[in-house]
Amino acid sequence: MDRVIRIGMLGCGTVGSGVVRILDQDAADIEVRTGARLVITRVGVRDTAKDRGLPLAPEIFTSDLASVVEADDVDVVVEVMGGRDQASKLIHRALELGKPVVTANKELVAHEGPELFDAAAEAGVDLHYEAAVAGAIPIIKPLKESLAGDRVHRVVGILNGTTNYILTKMTEEGAAYDDVLAEAQRLGYAEADPTADVGGHDAASKTAILASLAFDTRVVADDVHREGIENVTATDIKVADRLGYVIKLLGIASEQDDAVAVRVHPTFLPKTHPLASVRESFNAIYVEADAAGELMFYGRGAGSLPTGSAVVGDIIDAVRNLLQESRGPVESAHRAKRIRPIEELSTQYYLLLDVEDRPGQLAIVAQTFGRNEVSIAQVWQEGSGDSAQLVLITHRANERALQTTVRDLEQTDGVRAVSSVLRVESEVFSQ
Ligand SMILES: NC(=O)c1ccc[n+]([C@@H]2O[C@H](COP(=O)([O-])OP(=O)(O)OC[C@H]3O[C@@H](n4cnc5c(N)ncnc54)[C@H](OP(=O)(O)O)[C@@H]3O)[C@@H](O)[C@H]2O)c1
Repeated sequence: MDRVIRIGMLGCGTVGSGVVRILDQDAADIEVRTGARLVITRVGVRDTAKDRGLPLAPEIFTSDLASVVEADDVDVVVEVMGGRDQASKLIHRALELGKPVVTANKELVAHEGPELFDAAAEAGVDLHYEAAVAGAIPIIKPLKESLAGDRVHRVVGILNGTTNYILTKMTEEGAAYDDVLAEAQRLGYAEADPTADVGGHDAASKTAILASLAFDTRVVADDVHREGIENVTATDIKVADRLGYVIKLLGIASEQDDAVAVRVHPTFLPKTHPLASVRESFNAIYVEADAAGELMFYGRGAGSLPTGSAVVGDIIDAVRNLLQESRGPVESAHRAKRIRPIEELSTQYYLLLDVEDRPGQLAIVAQTFGRNEVSIAQVWQEGSGDSAQLVLITHRANERALQTTVRDLEQTDGVRAVSSVLRVESEVFSQ
């Protein structure tokens, strides 16, 4: 085979080094599968002197990222550097030059996807981003291509390994959030600054990307209602367990009538739901489609080789298209759906109240719910004396009504605090 496709990499850290290793180890198979030999000709990094232990010649490293994109000996650009502005400029330039781009950058795709897809369409070249959502798990292609003949109505995902690890440890060991987070940081499962993960930002980016693909519309990260896991307590987990639920940080994208609802929040999920068994740092995406029914995609959502696998799959796609002088499917956003604000949604809720332990307290609390037309499905009291707590599960209620109820409860006689409010998603999944 005499065809050679030359690859320029922007970044060679966790994901980039996985890409290099896979391209090296599987070179012979990849050559047969694509019909070309893939050669990494340039690698842009910050520190060109760092020994990365990779099968790459030192002279191909450069700190001049633009030179990688511009180089005549680069046919395909692989962006695995992360960040927004610089990565965005480099990708736009690569597309302008007619070079297919593969990226793992969820933050960028979730915030600037529409502009990037327009640029790719205008240039008539591929922009692939399978690794941007759930690492190794194939989900972009299934939504974009395999399910193109179906109508997806809901996508629910455990999309962040760090938070799933923390919630799993809290559930299985009864540990407190702060202790598990500290342990996760010590073991390298959580970043020194864990905000992007525990605050739900990372999951929100991925949910936006999935929603866009599932519903043929444009959803960006800022459209996603987002709540993190920072306030989930050991008591919440214990209550959930007793009621037959686990608490998971879910990204939920659903379509109803004229609108799309997109949210990320910790959720009471029935233990019987397939996503409830997704433990530790694994990711999974549960897709409900009209004809296909229920589908679940499960695997490693991060890591050098798992994410590298998704990037290399995209590189192979890009190379095949390049060799055939064709391109993959373009963005499909023809349905242009409205984003439904969270206030319009209805779910069940779990509330934990610190109350004074005195006769008639429950009736006073029940009146506050009744006044706001939120009906209570289950209620009981935990403890007595100074540390009395009321646990309540509501029937399906409107978010706005629930928020008003919470504000009213905070002013209600004998209620010391509304300690927890979490959504319960049992009905949604059984519909
Ligand atoms: N890590 C995962 O498991 C995972 C999973 C899915 C998606 N992703 C996405 O993949 C991308 C890369 O993540 P990563 O974990 O591989 O990051 P990383 O380990 O921090 O690697 C980033 C690489 O980019 C280079 N780089 C960054 N900014 C640069 C700049 N301004 N100039 C020159 N070089 C620069 C770094 O150079 P030096 O090596 O010299 O510092 C490094 O090689 C991100 O978009 C991330 O969200 C990561």
